[in-house]
Amino acid sequence: MVIRIAAVGDVHLDEDVVGRFRPALEELSDCADVLLLAGDLTRHGTEAEARCVAQEFGGLDVPVITVLGNHDHQCNQVPQVVKVLQDAGITVLEGDGVVLECTGGRLGVAGVKGFGGGFAGRCASDFGEPEMKAFVHTTTESADRLAEALLGLDCDVLVALTHYAPVPDTLAGEPLEIYPFLGAYQLGQAIDSAPTALAVHGHAHAGSERGTTPGGVRVRNVAHPVIKQAYSVFHLGDHLDQGEVSRLSASGI
Ligand SMILES: [Fe+2]
Ligand SMILES: [Fe+2]
Repeated sequence: MVIRIAAVGDVHLDEDVVGRFRPALEELSDCADVLLLAGDLTRHGTEAEARCVAQEFGGLDVPVITVLGNHDHQCNQVPQVVKVLQDAGITVLEGDGVVLECTGGRLGVAGVKGFGGGFAGRCASDFGEPEMKAFVHTTTESADRLAEALLGLDCDVLVALTHYAPVPDTLAGEPLEIYPFLGAYQLGQAIDSAPTALAVHGHAHAGSERGTTPGGVRVRNVAHPVIKQAYSVFHLGDHLDQGEVSRLSASGI
């Protein structure tokens, strides 16, 4: 049995862009059981932009699950943004998870926005000024909540959804200098602490599509500028060798 996961991130919708994705999303159930959105749904995180997201991704024929991105925090309207999305039937995760009954089994999705900090040998450390400690604390606290959410789900196939990257592999193409602002190794550790089959993230517009955590979990950067289509579809299932991932050509967006 196979579970089919469609995913895209960094759609950055506003009044000028709304409608761009919708044609490719109609009858999504023909090729996917669920749609995951990897944050940066909006340009500046306004309630008005959230309504564009609701218009674009609400009322689809598959469940839609999202995390927010840094852009969705820009105008300090997160509660309003979340409410608009929830009212449109979109599940917004932040340190929690959900289990969906799919034809191919029970799919568990745990999500957090995540945060930066960098990767092994080139990362921020919990040392010195209070501001630096607060920065690192934000990252570790987010990763801890992701681990807890992943471990708390009773399901057949487990997927981690973040905005920030859990590994440096999928940042290849970005300037090295900004890696610490694009992701953090603690997110990868959280993903490896559970039997995660696939980790999906966005945020790295100039990054690469494929990566692997130190523990061997497949990581996919689904930022729209990277996948260059409305969404990618990944197939996960027992007979696919512990979560083999396939990418289908979905649409021309
Ligand atoms: Fe983005
Ligand atoms: Fe972002």
